[in-house]
Parts: sequence; C-alpha cells; structure tokens
Amino acid sequence: MEPAPPRLEIRNLVRRFGGQAVVDHVSLRVMPGQVTCLLGPSGCGKSTTLRMIAGVEMQDEGEIYVDGQLICDTVFRVPPERRAIGLMFQDFALFPHLSVAENVSFGLKGPKEARRARVEELLERVGMVRFIDGYPHELSGGEQQRVALARALAPRPRIMLMDEPFSGLDNRLRDDIRDQTLEILKQEDAAVLLVTHEPDEAMRMADEIALMRAGRIVQQGAPYNIYNAPVDRQAVAFFSDINVIRGEVQGALTNTPFGQFLAPGVPDGHEVEIVIRPQHLKIDFDRGGKGPLPTVQDGVAARGEVVRARFMGSESLVEIRMDYDGSVLKATVPNVFLPAVGKPLWLMFRRDRCFVFPVKG
Ligand SMILES: Nc1ncnc2c1ncn2[C@@H]1O[C@H](COP(=O)(O)OP(=O)(O)OP(=O)(O)O)[C@@H](O)[C@H]1O
Ligand SMILES: [Mg+2]
Repeated sequence: MEPAPPRLEIRNLVRRFGGQAVVDHVSLRVMPGQVTCLLGPSGCGKSTTLRMIAGVEMQDEGEIYVDGQLICDTVFRVPPERRAIGLMFQDFALFPHLSVAENVSFGLKGPKEARRARVEELLERVGMVRFIDGYPHELSGGEQQRVALARALAPRPRIMLMDEPFSGLDNRLRDDIRDQTLEILKQEDAAVLLVTHEPDEAMRMADEIALMRAGRIVQQGAPYNIYNAPVDRQAVAFFSDINVIRGEVQGALTNTPFGQFLAPGVPDGHEVEIVIRPQHLKIDFDRGGKGPLPTVQDGVAARGEVVRARFMGSESLVEIRMDYDGSVLKATVPNVFLPAVGKPLWLMFRRDRCFVFPVKG
C-alpha cells in the first residue's frame, strides 16, 4: 500500500513585494494529526506563507497540495472557501450581532437539527456550552477565543491554519487554552500549521518546528533536534541567551581559555565561534587561586569574578567577568545561588552541550 500523502504540502512557495522575495522558496509538509510551527522573528514571512495557503494571497511561484491533490499553483486555483481549511488568526472576531450558537454554526450547511447537534458538541468540547445563547460582548477574551476555536472547527477542516491565535491572552489562560486547543485538534485529526514568534509556544505545541528567517526555512525538525542540534549561532540564540567565544583553527582544532575544541572541516586560519547556553556552563569554586582540574567532558576551567547575580524564580543568573579578556559570560544555576559581587569562580564549557560554528564572511 502506498503511504498516505501529507495532509498539507507546499512546494517552493515564493511571494515578492516590490521585487523583494518576502517568502523565498518555502517548502513543507504536515501530516494529519500533526502540528508544525512556523517560528521566526517579526517580518520573516510567516503570515504571508499562511495567507497563501488559505488562498487569500496568491503566490508568485510554487504549489500547494492537500491530501496529494493540487489546490493551487500559479495557474490553477481552488477558491479559499473550497479548500477545507480552518483559520484562526490573532485578530479573530466573532460576529457581534450573532449569538454564540449562531457564530459557531455560521459555516455549517445541512439540516437545522444536525447543525445544532454539531454546535452543541463543539461548545461542549471547549467548555462553553452554558454560553450557547449568549452574545460575544458578554464573554471574556479567553471565552471568546474558545468560541472562535469552536467556530473554526465546526466545518471539520482538514487543515487548521493558526496565526498567533493566543497572543491576546494572559499567560496562565494562554497555557490552558493552548493545551485544550491542541488536544481537540489532535482528536479531529487535522493538520495544523501554527505561526508564532515565541520559541516557548513552538516548543510547547509543535511536533515539528520550521525555523524561518528572512523568507526562508533555515532548519526544520522536532523541537528536541532544533534545540540540541541548531544549524547556526542565530538558531541557538533564538531559543535562549547565549555565550560566545572565538578561536582560530589550526589542524581542525582551536585553542581557547577553556581548552581545545574540535572544529572538523574548518580550514586552518579560519575563525570559529563556540556557542553555549547559560544553563550549560559549569560553575566551580575557587580553591586558593586554583580551579578544578581539566576533564575530557568539560575541558579546562577559566577564572572570573562575579559582576552580578540575580534570582529569577526557578533559577539564578550569574554574570561573570572573565580574567582572560574581561568579557562577561552568563551562567544559570537551578534554584538559589547568589554569590557576592567580586567572588572568584571558575567556569567550564560542557563539551556535549556547546556548538562550534565557522565564522562566515
Ligand atoms: N501586501 C504587502 N505589500 C508589501 N509588503 C508586504 C505585504 N504583506 C507583507 N509585506 C511585507 O512582507 C514581510 C513579511 O510579512 P509577514 O506579515 O509575512 O511577516 P510575519 O513573519 O508574519 O511577521 P510578524 O511576526 O510581525 O507577524 C514584511 O516585511 C512585510 O512588510
Ligand atoms: Mg504575522
């Protein structure tokens, strides 16, 4: 048996404004029941990509397929209302003059009783059935969001496109609604493409993250892989603070105050950047002017002095000015660790947690 085609597939989508490609050969696939997050900074082309899939914007190049069927290229085009695609956008608006039930049944066809049953089922699922005869102005922002979700799901879309749909909600409510939404979408077996510029949201929601920058997808994979095998320095920095040290390569190795690092494939004389997240620096105490002994896992320790220590709730952030060149490195430590300013500490780079990238240009 042939494997099922992706529920949604886009191939080489391009959209230009004023000669500039704001979406530049973007390709991706989403299987039924899967959530892919398009993650990237403001202006990188996320919403434009979504609008082309929804059919409200025409691409200049590329194709869109649903269940293996072409729905849009530069010649042929299935109109938006026949694409079986549900939309939830940030500025979603319920119809103010329609009741909750009428809002949810808006896109539904068929006999009245069947529509009413579907509306009740969905409102039950999103926990809003008691508001069925209420009106939007009587609902809080979170409640309106739930109704909007029910409305988007009512026609059983095969694909759900979501553009920062949770950004208007406060944090706590957002986590709850996000989790509920995800559960419902999985039950419906829809393919979900969710746009966000927040890494936490992407990590929380996505089966797969497509990291986008300046119109292109620079990396795509499971959240774990994106976080732990980033393609470049910016990809590391998108998810957390970073520390960077530089070194020059000789014989595929570079010498630094933290010992030697491997730089396979990098030619002699080239510079590399060694990037590490604050939680992966190892901190050790000063023992009469000496630090810990070098190890294979953590390399050589380098000495510095505390310039600032702050308690952040679940962790403490310590900034340390390094003796070797006066630069400041950031380390986070679980729980409370607030060493006095000026206290000498030794830092080590965990070799399994740092990334070595050739410096471009
Ligand atoms: N109709 C248009 N005409 C001209 N330029 C446009 C048009 N639509 C979008 N752009 C430009 O294309 C780029 C990408 O816009 P897009 O809305 O896709 O970004 P985004 O990734 O969704 O950003 P954000 O996170 O801020 O929502 C931006 O520089 C934007 O100004
Ligand atoms: Mg946008």
